[in-house]
Amino acid sequence: MPYLKPERPEKVSAPSLIASKARGERMVCLTAYDYPTARIVDEAGIDVILVGDSLGNVVLGYGNTVPVTLEEILVHVKAVRRGVERALLVADMPYGSFHTGADDTVRSALRLVKEGEAEAVKLEGGQKRVKLVKRLVNEEIAVMGHIGLTPQSINQLGAYRVQGKTADAARRLLDDALALEDAGVFSIVLELVPREIARMITESVKVPTVGIGAGVHCDIQVLVFHDLVGMAFGKLPRFVREYANLRETITDAVTRWAEDVRNGTYPSEQESYGLPAEAAEELNIEIKKVKT
Ligand code: KIV
Repeated sequence: MPYLKPERPEKVSAPSLIASKARGERMVCLTAYDYPTARIVDEAGIDVILVGDSLGNVVLGYGNTVPVTLEEILVHVKAVRRGVERALLVADMPYGSFHTGADDTVRSALRLVKEGEAEAVKLEGGQKRVKLVKRLVNEEIAVMGHIGLTPQSINQLGAYRVQGKTADAARRLLDDALALEDAGVFSIVLELVPREIARMITESVKVPTVGIGAGVHCDIQVLVFHDLVGMAFGKLPRFVREYANLRETITDAVTRWAEDVRNGTYPSEQESYGLPAEAAEELNIEIKKVKT
């Protein structure tokens, strides 16, 4: 069966996501880090594509997101950009790219937007990032916030745990969300937050919330692509639903190919090229007739 491109509704933008929330629509976001994945995800009609710093975990093999650099994100944003037409393309600001002052933050974000052609950037943190968010928005850069579990803080947190589990912590999360909205973000990631708190925040802000491990009430759901398709290693968090097991599929393909090579059945004559008759005659080489 030929693959048919689904109907392509209009291009997604930061304002169109806010309008979709106002209409009560549910939206979807996935990470992508390379051209083929970006094309597949975009053509499947996913609304937002995030080149997340989860790149460090799932593609580059770092133990966490802390080592990821701006240069690394940029290479992947450029690759993804070439594969995306409709979805909003968001680039993560990696750890260290917004920690040394507002001017450096703007410089980092501008590289992602100008060189990478991302349409928005995401940065982790709540009230303490308000000044930076305002500055970026002032420079015409669309910003996605990120609160709850912020993986770039792993060295302070010690472990990836659900955030906002006490009344005080939940109130702080709500204050973070309101402060980010006030600063001008167009959406806010809520990572590993109790569903009741995610709902309270979602109902308190006009910009869409982007939930990961935050329950069904968020306006947008996001997952890491490799988790969704079974290409990740190690124990998956409980919020991940695997819709495919590409690890098995790929292992099977690679194993069968290696077997065929070892037992001499790959490549067949149809899978290789023969010498033209004239050259064979001159070289005195006998040509076997290949059945087609
Ligand atoms: O880096 C990432 O992929 C993310 C999403 C999980 C929200 O921050």
